[in-house]
Amino acid sequence: MDLSTSTVLVTGANRGFGRALAAELLSRGATVYAGARNPDQVDLPGAKPIALDITDPASVAAAAEATGNVTVLVNNAGSSTGADLLTADLDAVRLEMDTHYFGTLSVTRAFAPQIAANGGGAILNVLSGLSWVSFPDFGAYCAAKSAEWSLTNALRLQLADQGIRVAGLHVGYMDTDMVRAVDAPKSDPTDIARIAVDGIANGAYEIVADDASRQAQAALAGGVSVLYPQLP
Ligand SMILES: NC(=O)c1ccc[n+]([C@@H]2O[C@H](COP(=O)([O-])OP(=O)(O)OC[C@H]3O[C@@H](n4cnc5c(N)ncnc54)[C@H](OP(=O)(O)O)[C@@H]3O)[C@@H](O)[C@H]2O)c1
Repeated sequence: MDLSTSTVLVTGANRGFGRALAAELLSRGATVYAGARNPDQVDLPGAKPIALDITDPASVAAAAEATGNVTVLVNNAGSSTGADLLTADLDAVRLEMDTHYFGTLSVTRAFAPQIAANGGGAILNVLSGLSWVSFPDFGAYCAAKSAEWSLTNALRLQLADQGIRVAGLHVGYMDTDMVRAVDAPKSDPTDIARIAVDGIANGAYEIVADDASRQAQAALAGGVSVLYPQLP
């Protein structure tokens, strides 16, 4: 795919990984809509700020109405409440699913017809190594990322005959606000953005961006005892 002639919408592009993705796409010559709950926070020269709360159906519809020429959608916006499934407030558990699963689905439903009408294109969902393995301390986030992975797989099949390639990006810790409190090695989001945008350009269906995600993917084949060796 020639990104220099593409118009891309990135959700959650005002900071973190979304901002890095938008910057990488701009450097390849793409026209970039930078979706943000508060578009005044978009500080990337050349990007077109657009108001977009992915959990608000009216906001999603307004963004689709305000565009019209989008050929690539990047579903990046995400929450991280740190909620565990047994004891956390259920509202926090629901927020994870509302954002990563229903929010991504809502934006995809709104923009897939636009991409198809423009002759096809691509959708990239920003997933995680935690789509494949759960950390119980923030089980609600992991469950939402697993649901988003399953959604990605279904929509890839459903949208293929409309000329829309649906990809998933799997990545471990990146150095953003989301994991500020985590004391572990983290990738530079600009490096992962380059890998992700290469994947879109090359028409990849699955982009596994780092060793942590590659290990999680390999462990899936080993079953529960390999994924969760801490079990008695
Ligand atoms: N950082 C990591 O280690 C890591 C690893 C794997 C996957 N990911 C995934 O990468 C994506 C980006 O995360 P990040 O690390 O960049 O996190 P971040 O720094 O916390 O940024 C999150 C972004 O999502 C936006 N957002 C949250 N809820 C939204 C909503 N309802 N509507 C629109 N925008 C919303 C935020 O907007 P506001 O500024 O308005 O809050 C912000 O722009 C997420 O999908 C995350 O799950 C992150």
